[in-house]
Amino acid sequence: MKVIEALKSRKSIRVYKPDPVAPEVIREIVEAANRAPSWANTQPWEVYVAGGAPLDNLRKRYLENFQKEIAPAPEITIPAEWPEAHRERINQLGAGRFAALGIARDDREARRKTTEMNFNFFGAPHVVFLCMDRNLTSWSLFDLGSFAMGFMLAAEEKGLNTIPAVMLVAYPELIRKELKIPEHLAIVMGIAFGYGDLESIHNQFDTPRRKIDEFLKLVGI
Ligand SMILES: Cc1cc2nc3c(=O)[nH]c(=O)nc-3n(C[C@H](O)[C@H](O)[C@H](O)COP(=O)(O)O)c2cc1C
Repeated sequence: MKVIEALKSRKSIRVYKPDPVAPEVIREIVEAANRAPSWANTQPWEVYVAGGAPLDNLRKRYLENFQKEIAPAPEITIPAEWPEAHRERINQLGAGRFAALGIARDDREARRKTTEMNFNFFGAPHVVFLCMDRNLTSWSLFDLGSFAMGFMLAAEEKGLNTIPAVMLVAYPELIRKELKIPEHLAIVMGIAFGYGDLESIHNQFDTPRRKIDEFLKLVGI
């Protein structure tokens, strides 16, 4: 698979088949993502890939917290506000997704069920949790982002599907306990992955993008 082809075919998949991914395939994907560039080759990523019983335990605890309406508290806080243009895109995404699912604006129960899928880890057999030393700066988050994209594109080439989701790190202390992640590491982000159920109605929506001329300035070109 060519890189541009993978960039164009990747999309967030929100329903998975339960089939686990072979450990050697996971290792191959991580080997590829490990080629990500980083500040002075610091390679800040610490990577925990969960599956099987530990992930199922975590899933159960997440769903319990969701039922109890315990507020998600990722280590990188969820922004309270967004600049207007960004807020508008967030609203458009929500409206587009719910319309594609045939869920009415005021159908709170159906919306709640859709949100709950996050806390069930979208039924995925695996979640990769990306961590880094707490003393690092935002520069290292840039590096983790590069690693994450490499991971998702390599997974795409392997016929797998992925979804990066902040809700996967909604309850970092549960993850830390279950996966025995040391205190000095911040649990930054999660990506669920596996073989997607591509027939599911939840996987039919394609997100739009801005036209590049809205944000691109070619200067001296
Ligand atoms: C930092 C980040 C956090 C995200 N958190 C969630 C999430 O909690 N739940 C979810 O369903 N999708 C989440 N997403 C997926 C985005 O909604 C998705 O990437 C975006 O709408 C573009 O769609 P695409 O990935 O299908 O191209 C997140 C993506 C990123 C990069």
